[in-house]
Amino acid sequence: MINIKSIVSQNFKNKNCLLRLDLNIPLSEKGEILDDTRIIESIPSIDFLLDQSAKVIIISHIGRPLGKFNEKFSFIKLIKIIEEKIKRRIIFIRYEDQKNIKKIINNYPYGTLFMLDNLRFNPGEEQSNKDFINFLSSFSDIYINDGFGTIHRNHASITGISKQIPSYGGILVEKEITNIIECLNYNSDKSIAILGGSKIKDKIPIIENLSKSFKDIIITGGMIRPFLIASKKIIQKDESIYKEEIEFAKILLKLNNKIYIPEHLICSKSIKSEAVFLHSTQITDEDNIYDIAPNSMNEITKKVLNSDKIIWNGPPGIYEYEKFQNGTKILIQSIINSDSKIKLAGGGSTVAAINYFKASDFFTHISTGGGAFLSLLEGKYMEGIEVLKNE
Ligand code: 3PG
Repeated sequence: MINIKSIVSQNFKNKNCLLRLDLNIPLSEKGEILDDTRIIESIPSIDFLLDQSAKVIIISHIGRPLGKFNEKFSFIKLIKIIEEKIKRRIIFIRYEDQKNIKKIINNYPYGTLFMLDNLRFNPGEEQSNKDFINFLSSFSDIYINDGFGTIHRNHASITGISKQIPSYGGILVEKEITNIIECLNYNSDKSIAILGGSKIKDKIPIIENLSKSFKDIIITGGMIRPFLIASKKIIQKDESIYKEEIEFAKILLKLNNKIYIPEHLICSKSIKSEAVFLHSTQITDEDNIYDIAPNSMNEITKKVLNSDKIIWNGPPGIYEYEKFQNGTKILIQSIINSDSKIKLAGGGSTVAAINYFKASDFFTHISTGGGAFLSLLEGKYMEGIEVLKNE
């Protein structure tokens, strides 16, 4: 068990609390918020601190502005909607006003909520440089990390600052770590991990770690093809574009002989062309795999219904298109119908799919993390967590 220094047993009255959130939220081309989960999940810590009469200074990054101000990545246009969602007024500190931050904070009473613009406008953030760490600690008494999604990064606002001032884990961070570790440690011989995405290389240590505690590993999404080629179930004439992935798939197949690779698939020459049902042996170099067909989904459903611990990361198909969403729909329905004690999901597209099908209430935990969630599944050492642990 990982024991985090929790805020809930502390009193932060009349303290300046620096609250690191992960408000790196997905936005549409027009800049509209596509998923507000990370904002909503931040509310318990914000409320807890403000109700104690602390001054709370929210810090977060959004996107990758590469160490300089860029209006496109400013929180300014999101502040109104964040205020509406958290039902609190925020004193927004513009990037150009950062130098006066102490004076601004001093002008307001305890119980006020502040927010700085995008941390990543400062080159010192990602470099975790001393000057930037000193700047952050110059107006804060206490540091609280509640940005689980970014806890795997060694940046000034995550690992740097926590060595400088008393540090705690926020309510979301504690909930995420407890649920994910509890799932990994839960002893079960009826457990399945459903893993998708396209970067097989990144999945090697995850599958390696999950193989210790999960009975079945099911492959979905972009990883299906290289796994089928590696196990000689697709005859691919030109293997060159998948060369690396095929080698990694071979390593994983040697490592775990219980990996299930779906063979009945829904393919198309392009995302806009007609969808066809093909068995892996019928798939040619020109066919793209966009979903898992009912025959294989029936196999997956049986495994899901028979399990008491489920981890899911990576939708079976391109669920945003009606013709390729059946696999994802069936998987979600089978998770809903399963009596499994643990139903855990995480990762950007998985969470978006769960929200799309309005199924979030049926999971025991949905992680707000992408890379951070996968790093925890991998059992990776993360300094961002280490610095928050109880001695
Ligand atoms: C995420 O969305 O996964 C986190 O906010 C981390 O973002 P990053 O990959 O840009 O560091």
